[in-house]
Formats: sequence, C-alpha cells, structure tokens
Amino acid sequence: MSATIISMVNHKGGVGKTTSTLNLGKALSLQKKKVLIIDLDPQSNLSQSTGIEEPEKNIYHALCEGAELPTLNLSTNFDLVPADLDLSEAELRLQSDVNGYFILKKILKSASEKYDFILIDCPPSLGILTLNALIASHRVIVVVQSEYLAVKGLQTIFNLIEKLKENLNTDLDILGMLITQINRTVFRTSIANTVREIYQGKVFETMIRANITLAEASASGKDIFSFDATCAGAKDYQDLAKEVIKLMKVK
Ligand SMILES: Nc1ncnc2c1ncn2[C@@H]1O[C@H](COP(=O)(O)OP(=O)(O)OP(=O)(O)O)[C@@H](O)[C@H]1O
Ligand SMILES: [Mg+2]
Repeated sequence: MSATIISMVNHKGGVGKTTSTLNLGKALSLQKKKVLIIDLDPQSNLSQSTGIEEPEKNIYHALCEGAELPTLNLSTNFDLVPADLDLSEAELRLQSDVNGYFILKKILKSASEKYDFILIDCPPSLGILTLNALIASHRVIVVVQSEYLAVKGLQTIFNLIEKLKENLNTDLDILGMLITQINRTVFRTSIANTVREIYQGKVFETMIRANITLAEASASGKDIFSFDATCAGAKDYQDLAKEVIKLMKVK
C-alpha cells in the first residue's frame, strides 16, 4: 500500500480548507479507507477542530528536529498529525536549510505505507510550508469559497502547480476544485457557475453547502459525522469522499 497524498490548498484564508480536511478525511475513513490528516498550519485549527490543544509532540518536531512523525488516533482508520504555534518557527528554520522544501516528502515516506489517503491541511499562504506539502503530494484539492473575488487569485495557484510539475514534483496533479459554502442565492450560484465555466472538468461535482452545523462541530472539537451525521454537511462530505474514491480509481 502506498498512500495518495493530497494537499488542501488556497492562499486565501477562511475558505474551508481545514473543515474539508477534517470532514473529507473522516468520510474517507467511514468508506473503510485508512486515512491520516496532517495539520500543517501554525494556526493549528485542524488540531483544535479535533479537540486537541497543545499536543506534546507535533509536526514541528518532525520537520525541524528529526523526531518521528507524531500520529494520534482519532477513530477507526482515522489518524492525525497535530500542530501548534511552534510551527510558525519552522518556516524560518526550513528556509535556512538547503533541503528545506523536501522535508515533509522525506518524513512521509514511511507513513505512506500505512495509509490509503494522507490529507494535508495547508496554511493560507503559498510559503515554504505549503510548498513542502505540494512537493510531497500526488494531488491537490483547491478549496474555493462561493464568494465574490473567489476566482481571483486562483491562477496564482495553478501557475505554481505548473512550475512544480516542470521540475520539483512531476507527479503533481489537480484532483479537483472544491466549491464550499454554496447556498441557493442567485449570487453564490452564479459564482459557482463561473468557476465551472472557467475551470471546465476540474471542478468536483459535489459542492459543500453553507451549513452552520459544520462550524458548530469544529467549535466543539468534533468531525461532522460524530456531531450530527444527518445534517447537510455530513451528506456533502460523504458524497465528496465517494467522488474522490471514484476519481482515484479511474486515474
Ligand atoms: N460549508 C460551511 N458552512 C458554514 N460554515 C463553514 C463551512 N465551511 C467552513 N465553515 C466555517 O468557516 C470558517 C472558515 O473555515 P475553515 O477554517 O475551514 O477555513 P480555512 O480555509 O481552513 O481557513 P484558514 O485559511 O484561516 O486556515 C470556520 O469558522 C468554519 O467553521
Ligand atoms: Mg485552516
């Protein structure tokens, strides 16, 4: 077994990267896939969303001190590598290391044998942490909020991915763009349609509806399936997991 490693990316903040990492990860585990989610954001929202605060060992120690990758079991087939604010220091340390862009790729090699999917929650920037994630990944999910200006700036991500593909990670591909926080207003629907028109064939069929229960679940340190398995958010992430599995089988 060798995991498919997927980065959840957008340098725009607050678009749903963390919510999607947690709930897509959990949904994949419920589809009997072995899943590891990695918190690669110094804000450590992913760790907090699973109820973990100030973990003793976190990704910083693996990236900068050569420690073993610290994995915590969350539920059946579902593990987390936590982060905390230490990780903001990692950016400087990695920048001054000649191999600083490749460390995550290196440390995921052995973990990769234990999982079907590894999802990496990236910070809202295209700095060295996100570059580590993209260099370690096979696929990218670009998370896009159905909001004004959502489309602007996306080209920056595509250009970066193209550049990485030329040289540093020829295996990298976009798995899909994920539209989040959709609702029935004409405004949000038209933004979703615009994204589909511009990026034909690259946008997931599944869209994540705006659903306050998703925010409530994260705030109480739970994934959506443990918090309220019947809500719209749970249904959407379950559909997304099925779509991801289908896409990976085809490719
Ligand atoms: N589909 C949704 N419906 C309602 N609220 C949502 C939805 N998805 C995410 N949220 C809420 O929106 C906020 C931002 O989401 P999230 O933290 O996942 O974004 P992010 O892209 O990871 O942000 P950052 O760039 O700061 O890391 C959170 O409060 C989250 O609970
Ligand atoms: Mg986040």
